[in-house]
Amino acid sequence: MAAPVAENVAAKIEELKVNGVATEEEDTDKVTPWEVTTTSATGIDYDKLIVKFGCGKLDEELIARFERVTGHKACPMMRRGMFFAHRNLQEILDRKEKGKPFYLYTGRGASSGSLHLGHLVPFIFTKWLQEVFDVPLIIQMTDDEKFLWKDMKVDDAKKMARENMKDIISVGFDPSKTFIFNDFDYMCPPFYENVVKIWKVVNTNQGRSIFGFTPEDCMGKAAFPAIEGAPCFASSFPHIFGKRNDIPCLIPCAIDQDPYFRMTRDAAHKLKAAKPCLIFSTFLPALQGAQTKMSASEPNTCIFLDDTPKQIKNKINKYAFSGGQQTVEEHRAKGGNCDVDISFQFLRFFLEDDQKLAEIREKYTKGEILSGELKAMATQEVQKIVGEMAERRKSVTDETVNEFTKIHDLVYKF
Ligand code: TRP
Repeated sequence: MAAPVAENVAAKIEELKVNGVATEEEDTDKVTPWEVTTTSATGIDYDKLIVKFGCGKLDEELIARFERVTGHKACPMMRRGMFFAHRNLQEILDRKEKGKPFYLYTGRGASSGSLHLGHLVPFIFTKWLQEVFDVPLIIQMTDDEKFLWKDMKVDDAKKMARENMKDIISVGFDPSKTFIFNDFDYMCPPFYENVVKIWKVVNTNQGRSIFGFTPEDCMGKAAFPAIEGAPCFASSFPHIFGKRNDIPCLIPCAIDQDPYFRMTRDAAHKLKAAKPCLIFSTFLPALQGAQTKMSASEPNTCIFLDDTPKQIKNKINKYAFSGGQQTVEEHRAKGGNCDVDISFQFLRFFLEDDQKLAEIREKYTKGEILSGELKAMATQEVQKIVGEMAERRKSVTDETVNEFTKIHDLVYKF
């Protein structure tokens, strides 16, 4: 079964390339919560996306202010542009300076039993942000979303959400600072009130123009965005924030989630509640190339957290698109292209050491490092991250999950 799936992706990328040839200047990038594709081997043009979505660039000046205000050096993903855009991050920094409250909110819709590396990116970053800011973290598991969009039974969606929680917890979160919930089990009156309030201030035309729903889509799809929006209102979590609606959240997420929060920011304004602020990541490319992102429903495009070291090695060797040349002689003469090379892209995301990364880039570009050698480096780094996660995952039980999901006080008081 596995091979045809990878071939599908390869075929899709081929098709994107063919269709893309004549349209270099045209915008062929597609970024929605359900689809991320481009014709370009270097991936989505994120600068264009900033303009299209109307968010702000996370530029050097803002990163410098972040470092000044928090007293922390920006983490690799931030300083290398993996997190590249934002909405009103300044407000969060203002609040940090003044000692005013805010919280972190992120989420996950479980569509596979195990997370893949791409899912891990926002959570690794969120963990770092929580260390930097020391504020509450809310994690929403949208089992209802997956029930609506996929061919899935309610119970299976719930089970998957719970399994994914274990992976998320393995990133290293602390239950005294973190509340994790799945929609089917948590939907309490204050949360539902916020959902209905959002429904009331967003009309069907707006919903359709933001999300592209068609008249054939089931009503649940059109109703769902308010459920992803409601955790932006602090009052959805009375056990943590009481009735307060003046505490904003900062949402670390991949840029494809922006439509939900564009809608929610507008609704927040109408409801006189604090608007969510956001910090956006790029996508971890699929093994086959940056024309698509890793997708759990196409197993050979991604590395799963439960892949064995051997599977990781095989997947990278077999599928990771190489920016190297066809023969060793040619490679030595012409060098490789890091910008399209997926192994290099993995190192950009996950290798801590800036100097080492710069050195690898230089040597690969000059042809001093061969494609196979680069793959071996990426494999080692990915095995390390997945291995560390697997080690922590061993001690995460159903009991551990309950500690995060039960209605409980956090160490912060409001
Ligand atoms: N819709 C997201 C997904 O499919 C899950 C999600 C819910 C989320 N709330 C969020 C993601 C907040 C980022 C931030 O994975």
